[in-house]
Amino acid sequence: MNDVELPGHVQRNRTAWDRYASEYEAPGRANWGASEPAWGIFSVPEADLRMLPVDMTGMDSVELGCGTAYVSAWMARRGAKPVAIDNSPNQLATARKFQTEYGIEFPLHLGNAEDTPFADESFDFAVSEYGAAIWCDPYRWISEAARILRPGGHLAFLGNGLLLMLCTAIQADGDTPVTERLERPAFGMHRFDWEDDGSVEFHLPHGKMIALLRECGFEIEELLEVQIPDGSTTTYPYVSLEWAQQWPCEEIWKVRKHR
Ligand SMILES: C[S@@+](CC[C@H](N)C(=O)[O-])C[C@H]1O[C@@H](n2cnc3c(N)ncnc32)[C@H](O)[C@@H]1O
Repeated sequence: MNDVELPGHVQRNRTAWDRYASEYEAPGRANWGASEPAWGIFSVPEADLRMLPVDMTGMDSVELGCGTAYVSAWMARRGAKPVAIDNSPNQLATARKFQTEYGIEFPLHLGNAEDTPFADESFDFAVSEYGAAIWCDPYRWISEAARILRPGGHLAFLGNGLLLMLCTAIQADGDTPVTERLERPAFGMHRFDWEDDGSVEFHLPHGKMIALLRECGFEIEELLEVQIPDGSTTTYPYVSLEWAQQWPCEEIWKVRKHR
């Protein structure tokens, strides 16, 4: 699908992420080289979060909004057969470079995770860390994830916590720290159009997310509100250590498609 045929928010996010790609090369390389996965903006260890099955031998996995695709590299090291999709040609160029550098090859698709080229019921495990999880419309990408997962397959996704989004000022840009006030309504929360870079995110209140997951045929196994461990650090200016020690700045949904 060329740029003109993409939905407006997908086009805008392609432009934004092609611009950001060079900034994501160094963290991407560090994550490709990491011996154990660590997640989110505070690099919380996998041992605390259990995003991935320990043994993924022979599992068909898909990463939705893979960026530099280090999550797929982690899954390959656990024995999975990963496939990854991303909307940014520049992010995928970095991912291809790292595949060569680290000697781990898997298919990388350029496309929209709301409307993938994959066959029905072709994956055992789907994952997104700040990919489709926040940049795709949940009313499109969650039904798409359900379509491409096999019955009994799992979906795990991590993004900004609900409270963090509620405490993000209406005029915020990517550098504006979240406050300790409710800055916007929860009712009607869905699409966030960022004025500073033209990108578009999506976040739902928990009740709406639960209803959507159920409508799409998922059973909810866990909603993990991430508590950062002592000694955590981040390079992201929009949330302080003090804030993230008191409230969940990130949340993880772990769901399973009905058999
Ligand atoms: C923050 S990165 C996520 C990758 C990695 N886990 C990380 O945190 O750096 C966000 C990625 O989502 C991708 N993305 C945004 N909208 C998308 C869409 N509609 N379909 C697929 N990928 C999308 C962007 O191109 C970008 O590479």
